[in-house]
Amino acid sequence: MGRIAYVNGRFVPHGEASVHIEDRGYQFGDAIYEVWALFDGKLADAAGHFARLERSLGELSMPLPMSQRALTLVLKEAVRRNRVRDGMVYLQVSRGVAPRDHAFPKEPVRQSMVITVSQVDRTASEARAAKGVGVVTTPETRWGRCDIKTVGLLPNALAKQKAREAGAAEAWFVDDLGFVTEGASSNAWIVDREGRLRTRDTNANILRGITRRTLMDLIANEGLQVDERPFTPDEARQAREAFITGAGTLVLPVVSVDGKPVGEGKPGPLATKLRRLYIERAKATAI
Ligand code: PDD
Repeated sequence: MGRIAYVNGRFVPHGEASVHIEDRGYQFGDAIYEVWALFDGKLADAAGHFARLERSLGELSMPLPMSQRALTLVLKEAVRRNRVRDGMVYLQVSRGVAPRDHAFPKEPVRQSMVITVSQVDRTASEARAAKGVGVVTTPETRWGRCDIKTVGLLPNALAKQKAREAGAAEAWFVDDLGFVTEGASSNAWIVDREGRLRTRDTNANILRGITRRTLMDLIANEGLQVDERPFTPDEARQAREAFITGAGTLVLPVVSVDGKPVGEGKPGPLATKLRRLYIERAKATAI
């Protein structure tokens, strides 16, 4: 008998188990998981794992998809169907399937729930334990690689949700030194009090925006300069203009930061012009 997986209420052959491509776990890492060791077909340290499961879900404003009692029965049924005595049971719960949008789905959707069971060769693991293992060290980079356009977007999704709840369109991340890094799905710019265009340099831990790069060329064509220097939210509020760039937003004027107006609280002339220039260039060069 082959392996059996549980997917959203059904037990299916492991090789045929799948979730939708717009599952938020797949697209944003907007999901949590838990793993129990199995001894003689029974869940080890069950209470501790259930407690952490509920905590992880709670931290992401998600409920347990079913009662702990019901979930325990489903986990045990998955183990039983796989006839595993020694191994592991893996549970993943995502926010569900919704059209791609960083913020949470506006209408509640059914959470996705997946369970797999795997076998462990305890004789082999005991032999390994008897010999001991080596480790290597690596810098703590979880997650200092925002330059990679990875789908590990959970912090971005949470930030975007925060923006939406505040009636804003984007969230700007602020680093330990108080400087804006970038938006949840865009790069951040201002036209400072002296009228200089400013955006964060790409040596910082940010995504190297393609729209940002192209806009740099357009700005140079206009005979203007960009100061690749970080700014604080206060500087943004005191700036003449602010805007964001990205394939989704193009060049989008920002009129308030944390509810306080930027400049006159309306789209600035330079941002508006750069939007027009960018769209013209994009249309002319699109293939
Ligand atoms: N986001 N920074 C982040 C974190 C982004 O996700 C994006 C783009 C950008 C701008 O990059 P570009 O100019 O290459 O689109 C900066 C896309 C649009 C998205 O997630 O929908």
